[in-house]
Amino acid sequence: MKKYKLKGLAMSCILFFFTQLHAQKFESLAQTPPMGWNSWNKFQADINEQLIKETADVIVSSGMRDAGYVYLVIDDGWMAPVRDEKTGDLVADPRKFPHGMKEIADYIHSKGLKFGIYNSAGTETCQGLPGTRGYEYQDARLYASWDVDYLKFDWCHSDKQNAEESYTTMGKALLSAKRPMIFSICELGTNKPWIWGAKMGHLWRTTDDIGVQFDGYIDHKTWKQLSIMTMIDQQVGLEKYAGKGHWNDPDMLEVGNGLTASEDRLHFSMWCMLAAPLMSGNDLTKMSQTTKEILMNKDVIAIDQDPLGFQAFRHSNEDSVQVWFKPLQNDDWAACFFNRSSVTKNINFNWQRENVNDTLYKKSLPTASADFNLYDLWKKKNMGNTRNPLNVNLAPHDVLLIRLSR
Ligand code: GLA
Repeated sequence: MKKYKLKGLAMSCILFFFTQLHAQKFESLAQTPPMGWNSWNKFQADINEQLIKETADVIVSSGMRDAGYVYLVIDDGWMAPVRDEKTGDLVADPRKFPHGMKEIADYIHSKGLKFGIYNSAGTETCQGLPGTRGYEYQDARLYASWDVDYLKFDWCHSDKQNAEESYTTMGKALLSAKRPMIFSICELGTNKPWIWGAKMGHLWRTTDDIGVQFDGYIDHKTWKQLSIMTMIDQQVGLEKYAGKGHWNDPDMLEVGNGLTASEDRLHFSMWCMLAAPLMSGNDLTKMSQTTKEILMNKDVIAIDQDPLGFQAFRHSNEDSVQVWFKPLQNDDWAACFFNRSSVTKNINFNWQRENVNDTLYKKSLPTASADFNLYDLWKKKNMGNTRNPLNVNLAPHDVLLIRLSR
């Protein structure tokens, strides 16, 4: 008996050693989609020490940290235009961050938050600052010495680089620096990162940049920003690539940046249905009550953070009304109905007759054999159960998000 136990133990040790040898990323991170704040959507490169510290303070005082937003990520624009002449190290822009990045990291950590930073796999960042190409191991060591917890790694100025190889190299560099960091692949979806990104990364962008726009896109002539609706269109079919530790990333949140309240609710609801990373991107020091209520709706966040880690699938898309479903833990489900059009739409959804079937996870909504109670997650009220058809009017650009439970 003892012999067998020892043998088992030895086998486990060998297996552990083997998996560590072949590990390509810090496996235990991002078991649910990462949540936090990122400086880019609102401030672009106009960032500095004071803004970051104030933001850290507000993440705590507003309740956002306790709602789950723990990663504070400083995006492009944090560094000086050249590397240190002698060491080749990246240097913080002395005008913006006069005390350097370690001091900022310590401040962020002292608030019970985690610290994220940005660079690009190419020779320069998208803002023309020093990129990581050729400095992967050196940059990874530097970030580790600053106690970085999250790296967003862009794809600008990557010329003819091979995407999978470039992200593999940086992934290995992070591992060898031995500081667990979430690795956020920001390759914009051009080389289908959902196919290879889970090997070395914890999340990967599936699209171009998001903008403050409900539908269509914002045309800047040389580049376009995508709308909330275009982003959602581009996620259809990607659900099979998402799961614990590896998420599709339809870009950061624009909640609080100028959409209407119902558009913000729709945007947030769908990001949660999609198990998307929830990186808020608004000025937290000037949040309205409505924005706070959206970003910190615990029941809606729970849809995003559900331990099963499934991404929603689109059930139907007719006459500008879309219906999405997501299986949740304990055999609960989430259902999301939204109206893309500019006129009110009547929704008549017969739970008994609809065949809601998640072919990927092989789960069906068993409304014929069981009654589910319906809870409206925005209005925070019960809506009866699945015995009766749902009959509601949805205003233009509005959303109905329901949790179904037995
Ligand atoms: C790209 C990324 C953005 C942001 C900017 C910074 O456009 O997609 O999210 O990081 O670069 O320059």
